[in-house]
Amino acid sequence: MTTNADGPTNATAETSTVMTTEYDQKASMSDQESITNFTVPAVAEETVAPLSDRSETVFALEDVSVFYSAFKAVREVNIGVRANEITAFIGPSGCGKSTVLRCLNRMNDLIPGARVEGRINFYGTDLYGSDVSATEVRRHIGMVFQKPNPFPKSIYDNVAFGPRVNGVKKKDELDHLVEKSLKGAALWDEVKDRLKTSALGMSGGQQQRLCIARAIAVEPSVILMDEPCSALDPIATARIEDLMKEIKSRFTIVIVTHNMQQAARVSDRTAFFTTEINPASDRRTGVLVEYAPTKQIFSHPSDIRTEQYVTGRFG
Ligand SMILES: Nc1ncnc2c1ncn2[C@@H]1O[C@H](COP(=O)(O)OP(=O)(O)OP(=O)(O)O)[C@@H](O)[C@H]1O
Ligand SMILES: [Mg+2]
Repeated sequence: MTTNADGPTNATAETSTVMTTEYDQKASMSDQESITNFTVPAVAEETVAPLSDRSETVFALEDVSVFYSAFKAVREVNIGVRANEITAFIGPSGCGKSTVLRCLNRMNDLIPGARVEGRINFYGTDLYGSDVSATEVRRHIGMVFQKPNPFPKSIYDNVAFGPRVNGVKKKDELDHLVEKSLKGAALWDEVKDRLKTSALGMSGGQQQRLCIARAIAVEPSVILMDEPCSALDPIATARIEDLMKEIKSRFTIVIVTHNMQQAARVSDRTAFFTTEINPASDRRTGVLVEYAPTKQIFSHPSDIRTEQYVTGRFG
């Protein structure tokens, strides 16, 4: 896709399709893609106190701009995402939330014409370094999309997919991983007796938790979520939010949401983006307005645009 004519929602759906295709291709590969010198510290066992200054910076974005061909979609973003926190991206439609999120696991690489300028460090390593494999990046940094996108396979095979691609073959090992991941996604009790049935027969909320289970089965250190609850009812949404709070002791989570209450409820820090008219092209470019602890963003933001947005007077 080289134009934005389909709008952002379709762009997201299209990207998820691309990812499925890539998974399928990868499943048929006999050799593992070469692993780079990419190093990720062991996953923290304990919850790091929210907003502790001691918590490690997972992503450091420095002057990050993203282009779709000649169009500058987002400009000069500077953000530090901390370990074991939930970071929310909020802002009006088209301000670049999904675009920046996709940069964090190099999903934009799959979009023709997409280009990232600036620097994104992941645990101190340049994410876009020439010796870094995008596939390996996506193993460490999983993604859950707006629309649940289970593979047309059984529940078991969906969760076992990533571990199998990573070379896990033994049945008992796979069984263990599947159970652990489904428990981690608060889904085990609901599906333990129907693991071999199609994932497509599950409810939307169950499918989304299955996608979270599939993401955590490869034990990533980060999970990116692009509006994961937008298609879910309040009960399923609450389950996913509880789940996020539970698993953040083991993962770092970045979530895009249009739901202000959700951002306020679950996130530790919030980045507010908006759009500015680019006088040269007359097109809108996304900018980061403010990035701060969530409480601050919602109670005393430092920028009037943030205040107008979070109080519902803009966007
Ligand atoms: N694949 C693409 N090709 C070209 N332009 C794109 C593509 N994806 C997004 N854009 C454009 O980049 C800008 C930012 O889009 P993005 O999808 O990141 O916004 P968003 O903040 O996630 O919006 P929404 O809240 O509606 O999902 C928009 O102008 C959009 O039209
Ligand atoms: Mg989006």
